[in-house]
Amino acid sequence: MNRPFFLFLLLLIGSPNLFAVEKDREVTLQLPPASLEKWYKPANKRDVWLHTMFRLRREMQAVSEYAALEEPKLLKKWLARLQKDYLSIGEMVPEWRDELEGELLEKMLKLADKGGLEDLAALQRKLGKSCQSCHKEYKLSAALRYRAPDFSSVRVESEETMEEEKYGRVMSRLTLLVNRIKIASEDGRADTGVAALDDLQQRLHDLGESCSACHKEEQQRERVLGKSVQDSLGKVREGLTAGDAKQVGRHVGEFAVGVCANCHAIHRLQSDLRSLLSAE
Ligand code: HEC
Ligand code: HEC
Ligand code: HEC
Repeated sequence: MNRPFFLFLLLLIGSPNLFAVEKDREVTLQLPPASLEKWYKPANKRDVWLHTMFRLRREMQAVSEYAALEEPKLLKKWLARLQKDYLSIGEMVPEWRDELEGELLEKMLKLADKGGLEDLAALQRKLGKSCQSCHKEYKLSAALRYRAPDFSSVRVESEETMEEEKYGRVMSRLTLLVNRIKIASEDGRADTGVAALDDLQQRLHDLGESCSACHKEEQQRERVLGKSVQDSLGKVREGLTAGDAKQVGRHVGEFAVGVCANCHAIHRLQSDLRSLLSAE
């Protein structure tokens, strides 16, 4: 069948279905058991859970490679590690103990002794399904809940008043100031615009001081709040004093994309999802 025609057919057959799916689709996220929290920072010194998972993946790979190479000694070494880490899932999170299929590993170890490598591969595929079935339900929610940056406890200190404010409040204030600049410029109220700009620059400075709650180095702050911001805001100031609303509009836009939108792309979505999943 030629390609355009095939695509046309697909459209014909597929589209009513697509609409149906779009219309009432609902996505649910299952939260992992609370005992998982112990295996993540800050409750733990390291993200123990995640590192166990990385080991499991490596062990699965070693097992299938040594089974293919017919290397029984190395195969058994890695099977034993796989068994230990796999069973540790149930020790770390007792609620998940019943989901585990430890008997598969018992059988695999026996087969490794006897040289039944084909059967072993089939059992390993089954084990892989047990990994997948848990991942399907919990992988995304656990990553968001325990590893997305947590802004709920970050405070921004005002250099002027020494008061500490929550992130959400600081953000509302930034939005208000940005819009005040736009409105004032449109209506030729330069003084109001400049005062809002002064305030905005001070608050961005305060915000920048809070990055160190999570970033030990200056480079992230520089990337989002560095010189290019001062450059665009400098142009906004010029525009305001010259009464040039067009220039103000262009450079406020540049600033909003470079600073607000860029930082949101990295932090906000994750932060919002984390709070959604952390809500009592
Ligand atoms: C009972 C639940 C459960 C079982 C069984 C399980 N996992 Fe996981 N796994 C998780 C959760 C929860 C995460 C998400 C962790 C995170 O992102 O912080 C995860 C994440 C992972 C990751 C990281 C994925 C990534 O994002 O890069 C790997 C690799 C992994 N698991 C491998 C395995 C393997 C291999 C097995 C089976 C041998 C397995 N897991 C069995 C719950 C499970
Ligand atoms: C609550 C913790 C937290 C705070 C506060 C925070 N960040 Fe981040 N930020 C992260 C995490 C986590 C990442 C992802 C890091 C990674 O995966 O390497 C990140 C990534 C970034 C990146 C991506 C670049 C990179 O590869 O490191 C930039 C840029 C950045 N942050 C800027 C900032 C700025 C600017 C501030 C302050 C205004 C800030 N961050 C405050 C947690 C935070
Ligand atoms: C650290 C990087 C960062 C920068 C830079 C940043 N934001 Fe945010 N913003 C966030 C995070 C994180 C949240 C979610 C915070 C929360 O809900 O606690 C957020 C939330 C918001 C919200 C929603 C507030 C609420 O209560 O729901 C608004 C509005 C907002 N930001 C506006 C702005 C504007 C305008 C700028 C630029 C002048 C800006 N932000 C710059 C990280 C940033």
